[in-house]
Amino acid sequence: MNGKLSIVMSGIRPTGYLHLGNYFGAVRNYVKMQEEFECFFMVADLHSLTTHPDTKELKLNVQRVLAENVACGLDPDKVALYCQSHVHETAELYLYLNMLAYKGELEKTVTFKDKARQHPDNVNAGLLTYPVLQTADIILHRAIYVPVGKDQEQHLEMARNFVQRFNHRYGEIFPEPQAFNFGEELIKVPSLDGAGKMSKSENQYATLYLSDDDEMIRKKVMKAKTDSGPTEPNSAKPDYIANIFQLMQLVSSPDTIQQFEADYDNCRIRYGDMKKQLAEDMVQFIAPIREKAESIRTDEKYLRELMEKGEEKARQSARSTIELVREAIGLNYY
Ligand code: TYM
Repeated sequence: MNGKLSIVMSGIRPTGYLHLGNYFGAVRNYVKMQEEFECFFMVADLHSLTTHPDTKELKLNVQRVLAENVACGLDPDKVALYCQSHVHETAELYLYLNMLAYKGELEKTVTFKDKARQHPDNVNAGLLTYPVLQTADIILHRAIYVPVGKDQEQHLEMARNFVQRFNHRYGEIFPEPQAFNFGEELIKVPSLDGAGKMSKSENQYATLYLSDDDEMIRKKVMKAKTDSGPTEPNSAKPDYIANIFQLMQLVSSPDTIQQFEADYDNCRIRYGDMKKQLAEDMVQFIAPIREKAESIRTDEKYLRELMEKGEEKARQSARSTIELVREAIGLNYY
């Protein structure tokens, strides 16, 4: 890896199957970025413990996320692809950053409030300090670009605040990281039922997973909410219809999209046909990734070597940052 390249870092929690939101919000960017940047991508297994204390499925989920990343085109020889828990320096930096994060701001974080509402019986300190651990992940490599979906925007804003506080108190060590999506706005891939976004653990029937088989994809797309169509030419689209068009933008050809847009504007649209087309385009998109991921996932030896290689690259970068940090804080007594 070339030390002069800009540094990129991102992560995905192993809390379930990867879906189209993870792909278009994050992994698609990882794959593009590996060509021009120095990249660190990891499976955020420690973060998953904040909401998934039962670890029976953890190993399988970690293996699956790694396999799916590679199946999407990530090359472990070009990037550092690793597990968060293998890089112990993360925990040390997390501890230092916790002294710079205030209870009030952590309690106001949208993801914290959501998770606390969903799991009122497990509002643990790890959940509260989730954005602090995420900041540690990012700045451990002194990354400046963080490819993520729109839901992570606030965490990145908090990361910049923590960095500013650290630099102000102990000296300029860290650059300020920013969320990244190839010069465009961050994206949110909507769910198929018109309510909210695709998600690993909620709303499973309205989410398209990279592991869904062809029949499942067709079934889910055909169930997407529609209505009897517009009655006035050039009417505005209700949210649930706009979502179907947005999904089409991700996988269908420009000609196809244009045709359905024109049909909509002329009040000739047949949503049954549109969903059939979308389903077939989704099948074409997902099937090759699913098949490739399945063969990688079951190759334990390959995955083990991949994790070892990733850990080595990530720890090398982590160690040099931690040395600077200890020195800056004043934890250098001899
Ligand atoms: P996670 O595991 O929830 O999601 C992984 C990535 O997928 C994106 N994403 C979406 N993008 C668009 N539309 C959607 N419907 C959608 N759903 C998910 C997320 O924005 C994310 O980029 N906190 C992070 C994991 C993390 C991390 C990090 C990320 C831990 N440390 C350091 C960046 C840098 C998370 O929960 O992602």
